[in-house]
Amino acid sequence: MRLSKRIDGLPPYLFVRISEKIAEKKARGEKVISFAIGDPDIPTPQRIVQRLCQAAMDPANHRYPETYGLPELRQAIAAWYKRRFQVTLDPDTEVLPLIGSKEGIGHVALCFIDPGDIALVPDPAYPVYSVSAMFAGGEPYFMPLTRDNGFLPDLGQIPAEVACRAKLLWLNYPNNPTAATADVDFFRQVVEFARKYDLVLCHDAPYTEVAFDGYRPVSLMQVPGAKEVGLEFHSLSKSFNMSGWRVGMVVGNAPARNALMRIKSNLDSGIPQAIQYAAIEALQGDQGCIEEHNRTYQRRRDQMVKALREIGLEVNLPKASLYVWAGIPEGYTSESFAARLLEETGVVVTPGTGYGKHGEGYIRLSLTVPDDEMAEGLERLASWSRS
Ligand SMILES: Cc1ncc(COP(=O)(O)O)c(C=O)c1O
Repeated sequence: MRLSKRIDGLPPYLFVRISEKIAEKKARGEKVISFAIGDPDIPTPQRIVQRLCQAAMDPANHRYPETYGLPELRQAIAAWYKRRFQVTLDPDTEVLPLIGSKEGIGHVALCFIDPGDIALVPDPAYPVYSVSAMFAGGEPYFMPLTRDNGFLPDLGQIPAEVACRAKLLWLNYPNNPTAATADVDFFRQVVEFARKYDLVLCHDAPYTEVAFDGYRPVSLMQVPGAKEVGLEFHSLSKSFNMSGWRVGMVVGNAPARNALMRIKSNLDSGIPQAIQYAAIEALQGDQGCIEEHNRTYQRRRDQMVKALREIGLEVNLPKASLYVWAGIPEGYTSESFAARLLEETGVVVTPGTGYGKHGEGYIRLSLTVPDDEMAEGLERLASWSRS
C-alpha cells in the first residue's frame, strides 16, 4: 500500500497523541487527571435530549437528510443570531448547518485554496486551519499571537506579497488556546484588510457563549460589511454541551456559503434529522442553561487561576472560553514541562506548541473537568510544586 504524500506529511492529531499517553499510564494502573481536552463534562440539557429521543422515534427522520439542513433549523439559527447579536441573516442563502463546525472548517479551504495559495493562520491556533489549507494544496502563513499584542494578529506585519497570494484569513475569538478576546473595533480593521487584499475572512466562534464576569463576546457579523467578505463558524458543542452530537453552522457571505454547500453536497449527506430537531430545541428553548454552565466554569476558572498562580505560573484571568493559558517556569520547554507533570503527577496538560511554535512557553488547561477531579488535579500540582 502506498499512502499519499498528504498523509505522509501530516503530523499526528495532537489529541490522539495525548490520548495514547493517557492510555499508557492507565494501563500501568495509574490514575490520570486530564486538563487536556476542551470537551464539556456537564450533560446536554434535558429538554434537548428529550427532543432528540422524540424525533428519533419518527420514521420520517430515519432517512437521508438534505446537506443544506431542515429549513426550520436554518430559520432557528438565523433567529438565534438576531436575538443574540442583533444580526440579520437570510436563512436560505446565508446559513448552512454543519456536522460540527470542525467539518466546515476543514472543508472550506477546498472552496478557496488552489495549489500555491496561502491561508493566513494564527499561531498558536486550532490545528485544523493550517492542515485544511495543506490538504487543499496550499500553505499556511502563520501570524504570531503573543502576550505583547494581546494575542491578536498584527496585520501590519504581514508582507504585502504574502497578503496578495493569500485567499483566506482565519480568526478565532474567544480564542483557543490563549483565551484572548477581540472587540468589534478589531474585527472592523480585519474586515478592511480582507477587503483590501480580496480575502475570505473566516471567523471561528464556538466559544461566544462561554464567558465570565458579565462579558458578552461579539460576532464578526456585527461589523458593517462583514458579510461581504466573511464567514462565521459556530457550534452547539460548547454552547449547549453537545460536542458528541456533531452539530454546528456557518453563516455569512452567500456565495462563500454556497461554495461550501457545493463541496459538502459532494461529500456528505447532512446532519441526522433527529439531531437537527434537537439543535432547533437548543437554539429556540430556554437559554438559562448557558448562564448556569458559565457559573460552573467561572468558579472553576477562579479556582484554577488561583492554584496556578500559587505554584508560580504566570496566568491572565480569562474573560471567556474554556481555557486557561499559563506561562511555564524557566528551564523548560512546553513539551518538557507537560511531560514532567504527566510523569510525576499524573496530570495531563496540553503543551502550547501543540498549537504552533508561538505556543512555546505556555501550557493550556481546560475547565471541562468535574469539580472533584479538578480539586484533586490542582492539589497534585500544588504538592508537586512544594516538593
Ligand atoms: C477553536 C475551535 N474551533 C472549532 C472546534 C470544533 O468544534 P465542533 O465540535 O463544532 O466541531 C473546536 C473544538 O474544540 C475549537 O476549539
